[in-house]
Parts: sequence; C-alpha cells; structure tokens
Amino acid sequence: MKPAAFVFLLIASLGAFALVRLLLPPSGHEALQVKSSRQCLECHAGVASEWEASQHRKAYENPEVRKLSKDFQNEECIACHAPRPVLSFRPGERVLARQSERGLGVDCLSCHLTPSGGVASANAAAASDAPCRPQLTPRISSVDLCASCHNQHKTVEQWRAAPPELKKTGCLDCHMPTAYREGGRLGRAHEFHGGHNLAMLQAAVTLSAGRDDQGAWVELINDGCGHNFPTDERSRAADLQVRWQNADGSFGGWQHIYRFRDPYRDETDLTNTQLPAGETYRAILEAPTPEAAGEVRLLYRTNPFLPDDEAAEVDRVSLP
Ligand code: HEC
Ligand code: HEC
Ligand code: HEC
Ligand code: HEC
Ligand code: HEC
Repeated sequence: MKPAAFVFLLIASLGAFALVRLLLPPSGHEALQVKSSRQCLECHAGVASEWEASQHRKAYENPEVRKLSKDFQNEECIACHAPRPVLSFRPGERVLARQSERGLGVDCLSCHLTPSGGVASANAAAASDAPCRPQLTPRISSVDLCASCHNQHKTVEQWRAAPPELKKTGCLDCHMPTAYREGGRLGRAHEFHGGHNLAMLQAAVTLSAGRDDQGAWVELINDGCGHNFPTDERSRAADLQVRWQNADGSFGGWQHIYRFRDPYRDETDLTNTQLPAGETYRAILEAPTPEAAGEVRLLYRTNPFLPDDEAAEVDRVSLP
C-alpha cells in the first residue's frame, strides 16, 4: 500500500470512529466518588422523600433519644443512631458510631455503602452504567442487615421463632412495600413504617370481644407481625382497656385490663408480656352486672408514660 493511501485510510477510519462516537449515546456516566448521603438525595428524589419521613432519618435528632441518652453524653447510644456503614461489619458484629454527618441518622450510606466504596443493590439487572455504579450485593436485602441494629431489642430472634405465614421471606416483605420510581422502574418504599404509624399498628393485631357462659371476654391476636407485639424493649407499651355502660346510657371511666410490654433491664419487678407472632391473649372481664354493655379498646404508646389522650387508639369494639 502506498503511504498516501495508508494515510487516507487512517483518516477515514478515525473519522468514522468519531462519527460513531457522536451518534451513539455515551456508554457510561463518569463514576461517582461516594462521599456523603447528600449526593444520593440529589438523584434519587423518590427514595429521598420517603427516607426523610422515616424514623431512620430522625435517629440522631430524635428528642426522645436525646432525652434518654442525656444528649448523647452516653456515647454508647450513638452507634446505631448514627452508624458507620453496616456492610463494613461482619453479620452479627456490633456496628460503631461514625464521625461525620451524624445529624443524618441512619442514612443511605449506613445501608448501601460497600467496603470497596461502591453502592450496594439487590437488583442483578440494575443499570451498571448509572453514575453510582450499583453493585449486586445480596446481603443488603437479608435479615442480617437489619439484625446489626435491630437485634438489640431482640426483634430478629423473635422473627426466627415466628410461624412461617408471619415470618415470610424476611423483614422487607412487610417493611419495604413496592414503590414505583421515575420511568416506571419498580422500587421499594423507604419509610420503614412501624410503631409510629397507625395503619401499620392496625395491620399488626386483631381485637375482638364477646360473651359466653363464663361472661364477657376479650381477645387480641398477633396475626400481622413477624415478631412480638410490640417488638421494642422498654419504649413501647400496648394497653387493653374496658369501660361499662351505666343504666342511664352514659359510660364509666376506662379501666385497665392488660399491658403488653418488654420492660427495661433495671425494671426487675416487671416481666415480659409481649404477644409473640401468631399467639392469642384472652381474658374474662369482670363486669359490674352480668348483662352490662361495654366497650374494649387497644391503646399503643410510643413511650410507656404517655397519658391516654396522647396514645394511639388502634382499635375499639363494643360488647353488646
Ligand atoms: C448523579 C446521579 C446519581 C447519584 C449521585 C446516585 N445515583 Fe444511584 N442511580 C442513579 C441512576 C440514574 C440509576 C439507574 C436507575 C434509575 O434510573 O433510577 C441509579 C441506580 C441506583 C441503584 C439501583 C437501583 C435498581 O435498579 O434497583 C441503587 C441501589 C442506587 N442507585 C443507590 C444510590 C445511593 C445509595 C447513592 C448515594 C451514594 C446514589 N445511588 C447516588 C443515579 C444516581
Ligand atoms: C444496637 C443498636 C442500638 C443502640 C446501641 C441504641 N439503640 Fe436506641 N434504638 C435502636 C433501634 C433499632 C430502635 C428502633 C425501635 C425498636 O427497636 O422498635 C431504637 C429506638 C430508640 C428509641 C425510641 C425512639 C422513638 O422516638 O420512638 C429511644 C428513645 C432510644 N432508641 C434510645 C436509645 C438510648 C438512650 C441508647 C443508649 C443507651 C440507645 N437507644 C442505643 C437501636 C439502638
Ligand atoms: C444502622 C442501624 C440500623 C439498620 C441497619 C436498620 N435500622 Fe431500622 N432503625 C434503626 C434505629 C436507630 C431506629 C430508631 C430511630 C428513632 O426512632 O430514633 C430504627 C427504626 C426502624 C423502624 C421504625 C420504628 C418505629 O419506631 O416506627 C423500622 C420499622 C425499622 N427500623 C426497620 C428496619 C429494617 C426492616 C431494617 C433492615 C432492612 C432496618 N431497620 C435496618 C437502626 C437501624
Ligand atoms: C435501613 C436501610 C436502608 C436505608 C437507610 C436506605 N436504604 Fe435503599 N435500600 C435498602 C434495601 C434493603 C434495598 C433493597 C430492597 C430489595 O429490593 O431487596 C434498598 C433499595 C434501594 C434502591 C433500589 C430500589 C428503589 O426503590 O429504587 C435505591 C435507589 C435506594 N435503595 C436508594 C437509597 C437512598 C438514596 C437512600 C437514602 C435516602 C437509601 N436507599 C436508604 C435499604 C436501605
Ligand atoms: C408479617 C409482617 C412483618 C414482618 C415479617 C416483620 N415485621 Fe416488623 N412490624 C410489623 C408490624 C405490623 C409492625 C407494627 C406493630 C409493632 O410495632 O409491633 C411492625 C413493627 C416493627 C418495628 C417497630 C417497633 C417500634 O417500636 O415502633 C420494627 C423496628 C420492626 N417491625 C422491625 C422488623 C424487623 C427487623 C423484621 C425482620 C426481622 C420485621 N420487622 C419483620 C410487621 C412485620
């Protein structure tokens, strides 16, 4: 080949290559250097707004946590309320507190940052050329991820003991329902509803009351939780109450029947009265007269000392 022809061919092929580069979309965005969860919030607006509304978001600023930890003078409390990325610890190992951006609480990086500095995804078909370069990391959707922080209150042990119909495949079946993302992509909700959400509480248990030859009875079934009800240690209490109707049709005051709660270690005079998954609590009520009509209700307190009017009324049934 003559040198001139070679130069021509070279120029022509370089030109064709440049044209192809121009016409085809770029094969990938520049990879993101992951430094902070604030980066994630900018691109994942849907997930970000769900997380903003979650208890995970509030974990460090939560006034209840501040009060009980003496404003984190008890540094032990920072570990799960402003954690370093959980995937950097082995399953079952205790997580440690992070130094930066503690105010974000349990943030995106707490669950998603991989030890190599990438972003964990549960989806094998995730767009691998997305700026955050999602990497398939099955551990992110496993029960162990939640266990690193939630077994402190034994929620995961309770789940292991649950009957299969409530155990399902793991925590996400009940705590991360389907959500749709921009462009119709299937995602999973990041609100992580629990005891602060009335609909979730109503899905947890079924309350009923009636009368038989032994008298008036009340029953509460845990038919919606993959763990004890309420699952937390110390902070939560659920109370059954009854009130009876007087002859003039008015009602007397609410009377205590039973409290479901796991007391704190130092409350040695109390025993654990949580209702395990699939189990039923039943009591015979002491009515003022055998045929007295009444009402039974279930109250849920996010703090055992909250007064009745600040508790959530989960359900109320009448006793004709
Ligand atoms: C510059 C924008 C950008 C930033 C910053 C970013 N992402 Fe992404 N991410 C994307 C795009 C685009 C996709 C592809 C899927 C889509 O269209 O949402 C994606 C996909 C993902 C996926 C996989 C979704 C699937 O298909 O199941 C995960 C998980 C993810 N991102 C998490 C994160 C996290 C955590 C951060 C913060 C460290 C982050 N991303 C930062 C743009 C971004
Ligand atoms: C091993 C992880 C871990 C540590 C350490 C930890 N917590 Fe928590 N904390 C949790 C989890 C998980 C919850 C969610 C509630 C549940 O379990 O139901 C929680 C919830 C709470 C709540 C209830 C918040 C609300 O508004 O409902 C308070 C209060 C609290 N923690 C205080 C503390 C204090 C005080 C300390 C230190 C003595 C502490 N935590 C240490 C994991 C932890
Ligand atoms: C890095 C620690 C950590 C991990 C990992 C974690 N959580 Fe949490 N979670 C917390 C803390 C701390 C709170 C309580 C925050 C508060 O109320 O101040 C919480 C709160 C919650 C709540 C809400 C409780 C309420 O009071 O309403 C639910 C539900 C929940 N987590 C479920 C999960 C599930 C499911 C997983 C696994 C996918 C998970 N969490 C992973 C630390 C964690
Ligand atoms: C408590 C742990 C936890 C936190 C905090 C968390 N994620 Fe996730 N995220 C998960 C899990 C688990 C999945 C995968 C669920 C599955 O499909 O199995 C997931 C899935 C995703 C996905 C893919 C599914 C979807 O809905 O699009 C994106 C994107 C994502 N997370 C981004 C984020 C961002 C951004 C943040 C911070 C605002 C964040 N996540 C905070 C646990 C968490
Ligand atoms: C069958 C559905 C189901 C499964 C499976 C399930 N949960 Fe729950 N969870 C619920 C319901 C309903 C509630 C609300 C009632 C309550 O607070 O006990 C709840 C509440 C919670 C709370 C909030 C407690 C509080 O103090 O506010 C946490 C934390 C939690 N679940 C964690 C988990 C973890 C971790 C797993 C997996 C090991 C899991 N859940 C599995 C249904 C489920």
